[in-house]
Amino acid sequence: MATATTTTFHMACKFITSTPLNYQNLPPSSQIILPLYNLHSNSLNNLQSTSSTTCRRRVSPVYNAVKAEESLQYKTSPPVSSKLVLVIGASGGVGQLVVASLLNRNIKARLLVRDPEKARTLFGEQDEDKLQVYKGDTRNPEDLDPSIFEGVTHVICCTGTTAFPSRRWDGDNTPERVDCDGAKNLISALPSSLKRVVLVSSVGVTKFNELPWSIMNLCGVLKYKKMGEDCLINSGLPYTIIRPGRLTDGPYTSYDLNTLLKATAGERRAVVIGQGDKLVGEVSRLVVAEACLQALDIECTEGQIYEINSVKGEGPENNKDRWEELFRAATVQ
Ligand SMILES: NC(=O)c1ccc[n+]([C@@H]2O[C@H](COP(=O)([O-])OP(=O)(O)OC[C@H]3O[C@@H](n4cnc5c(N)ncnc54)[C@H](OP(=O)(O)O)[C@@H]3O)[C@@H](O)[C@H]2O)c1
Repeated sequence: MATATTTTFHMACKFITSTPLNYQNLPPSSQIILPLYNLHSNSLNNLQSTSSTTCRRRVSPVYNAVKAEESLQYKTSPPVSSKLVLVIGASGGVGQLVVASLLNRNIKARLLVRDPEKARTLFGEQDEDKLQVYKGDTRNPEDLDPSIFEGVTHVICCTGTTAFPSRRWDGDNTPERVDCDGAKNLISALPSSLKRVVLVSSVGVTKFNELPWSIMNLCGVLKYKKMGEDCLINSGLPYTIIRPGRLTDGPYTSYDLNTLLKATAGERRAVVIGQGDKLVGEVSRLVVAEACLQALDIECTEGQIYEINSVKGEGPENNKDRWEELFRAATVQ
């Protein structure tokens, strides 16, 4: 028993110390991100709150990294899509990979971000018909103006904050406010015409009272994520919830995104999907981003919740049929 408890404790410690908890001793996220993407110094001070902003075409390292990755898979440029995907949390680890892939696939993206300048530096200058940036904080219902959702066909929400107190909680940006209140505000503001809403949550949300999850949940992150999930489930909107294991290979762990993405794609391509909150493990952010994009188009994922891990080996890449197979195989009848 003592051994089992010790093992569980070590597992919990490993999980926790390798999650955003350890960001609390790092410089603010902006300072981590800035050297990563060769930020440009142009100011976007003229941006208006809740007004659309054109990002003019300019070279962007994160966009190029994903483009290089995907160019191996696309023989010709993909046709322009009729979708308009709203991404919330677009400046985060998963979110920026989602946006870069949307751009690369000619899918129109609209971003709701707290800091439009960050979005511009991440994604470069793009035509307004490809990328629109709105300023907003999901904790503030008044930021979620109906104009933001006009024309939007699909939504991917990958907002989050650290599980434990850190600088990213500054200004009351806690799990309760982001994962619960923010998610609820957003979901309440979404139009019923949407074709799909994908929410990135976490494994362990149904077990926040059990070890090792109860340690992770000391400040309530899993409980509040579950409340956000429940709000979406009860909203009547067509949803898919993606619950990642511990995220790896994110931009926070390397200062060279090109190298990082190549290494990530090379080593952790194989995807493991489960249901019932039984999966424990790690998953590449690139795989989570791809799962979100694929779920938009795969009918059987509607109304479903999936846990996702990735391991070394060959994966589905961006092949819809292979993703559909994976989702179908995981879906409990
Ligand atoms: N780290 C892990 O091991 C792990 C494990 C399982 C699940 N998850 C979850 O997976 C998701 C993606 O994780 P990640 O590491 O890629 O995320 P991340 O890098 O922490 O990014 C979070 C995003 O949420 C945005 N955000 C935070 N508060 C906001 C607010 N009040 N209003 C609007 N946007 C807000 C951030 O914007 P700013 O740039 O303005 O801060 C950022 O774009 C998160 O929900 C996370 O909790 C993480």
